[in-house]
Amino acid sequence: MNGSVQSESEKRVVLAYSGGLDTSVLIRWLIEQMGLEVIALTVDVGQPGDLQAIRQKALEIGAVESELVDARDEFAEEYIAPAILANALYQGKYPLATALARPLIAKIQVETAHRYGAKKIAHGCTGKGNDQVRFEVAAAALDPSLEVLAPVREWSMSREDEVEYAKSRGIPVEITAGSPYSVDENLWGRSCECGVLEDPWVEPPEDAFAWTSSPQEAPDSPEYIEIGFEKGIPCALNGESLSLVDLVLKLNSIGGRHGVGRIDVIEDRVVGIKSREIYEAPAAVILIEAHRTLEHLTLTKDALWGKRKLEDEFARMAYEGMWFSPFNKAIQAFNRVLSERVSGAVRVKLYRGNAVVVGRRSPSSLYDYSLATYDRADAFDHTAARGFISLWGLQMKLWAKSGKEKGESSS
Ligand code: ARG
Repeated sequence: MNGSVQSESEKRVVLAYSGGLDTSVLIRWLIEQMGLEVIALTVDVGQPGDLQAIRQKALEIGAVESELVDARDEFAEEYIAPAILANALYQGKYPLATALARPLIAKIQVETAHRYGAKKIAHGCTGKGNDQVRFEVAAAALDPSLEVLAPVREWSMSREDEVEYAKSRGIPVEITAGSPYSVDENLWGRSCECGVLEDPWVEPPEDAFAWTSSPQEAPDSPEYIEIGFEKGIPCALNGESLSLVDLVLKLNSIGGRHGVGRIDVIEDRVVGIKSREIYEAPAAVILIEAHRTLEHLTLTKDALWGKRKLEDEFARMAYEGMWFSPFNKAIQAFNRVLSERVSGAVRVKLYRGNAVVVGRRSPSSLYDYSLATYDRADAFDHTAARGFISLWGLQMKLWAKSGKEKGESSS
C-alpha cells in the first residue's frame, strides 16, 4: 500500500447510524473534531421508520457515503433462529431483541469497513449500557485490528447540548413531543426505559407500550393459532408456510392484539447496574413457549435436562456481548443436533395477555398412549417397577442403615 492510500483509510470511519440525535450529532463531530470521512451505515433489523430517509439524512449532515443494508432475513435465520433453539431468555425473562441485533450490526459494520478500506469504526452508545460492550466485543472478535471510536461515551454533552449543537449546524432535529422514554425496536421485540419507569414501584403507564394492547382492552374471545416447526425452527402459521421474518411479523401483530408479550423486569446490565426494563415481544414469547413444548414431546428426559443448563449460558453470552465466542458457537451446534427431531405443530390459545399451549403433535413424538394411559389399554409393565425402585433407592437404604447404626436420626 502506498502512503496516500494508507492515510486515506486512516481517515475513514464506518459509523453505525440509527438516525437519532446522538448518531446524527456524531457524524458532524467526527468530521469536525477528528477530521474523518464518515461512512454511515444503517442496518435494517426490522425497526420502524423511513430508513431510506435516514440514509439520506446522513448524507445531508455530511457523511461521504451512506449505506442501508436490509439484514432482516439474516437476523431471523442466523440470530433469532438460534435463540429459539436455545429458548433464550436472559434472567429467565428477556428474549434479547436488542442483544441479538448488535452482533449482526457489528458484523456488517466490520464488513463495510473492509469494503471501504476503513481502519476505524464508531458507535453512539453511552458508557452505562450493554450495547457498547456488544458492539465492541463483537467487532474485536471479527477484526481485532479495527480501532473503535465511542465519542458519546466521552463527550459531556447533555441532550440539550446536543440539540443546540445540531441546530447550530443545520442538522435536522425531530421536534416530536419528546417521548419520555428511550426505546429500541427490531423484529424480535421492543424495549422501553427511562422516565417514570425508573421507579421500580410504578406500574408502567399505557404510553410505554406500542406493540401490544392492554390485556383489559384485548378481544374478549380467545384466538387459537397453530405453529408448525421443522427441526426446531418455526416455519408455518395455521398451516401456511412462512419465512421466519414473516412468521415473526404476523405473530407480533396477532399476539400484540391479544396483549401477549408484555414483560416488566429489573435486569442486571453487564456494567453492574440494575435497570428497570419494559419489553414487548409477542412473537418471541409465543414461539419460545411453543418451541419448548415441542421439545418436551420429542426429546429425551436427559437431553432436556442437559440442554436447559446450556440455555442459560447461551442467553447470558448473547446478553453480555459474547455472541461470537467459541462456547456460544458450540452451544448452537449442540442445539442443532438435538433439534433434528423437533418437528411438528403446537396449538396456542391467545387470550387477554396470555399465550397458553393447549396442544402439541409430532411425527417424532415420544409420547406413548399405551404407556401413559390409566385405561384398559395400559401396556406398561407394572411388575418391572418393583425391581427398579429397589435398585434406584438402594443408596438411600444403605445410608439410612449406616446412620441408624451410629444412632443418627434419619430425617
Ligand atoms: N436492556 C436491553 C438490553 O440491554 C435493551 C437495551 C436497549 N438499548 C438501547 N440503546 N435503548 O438488551
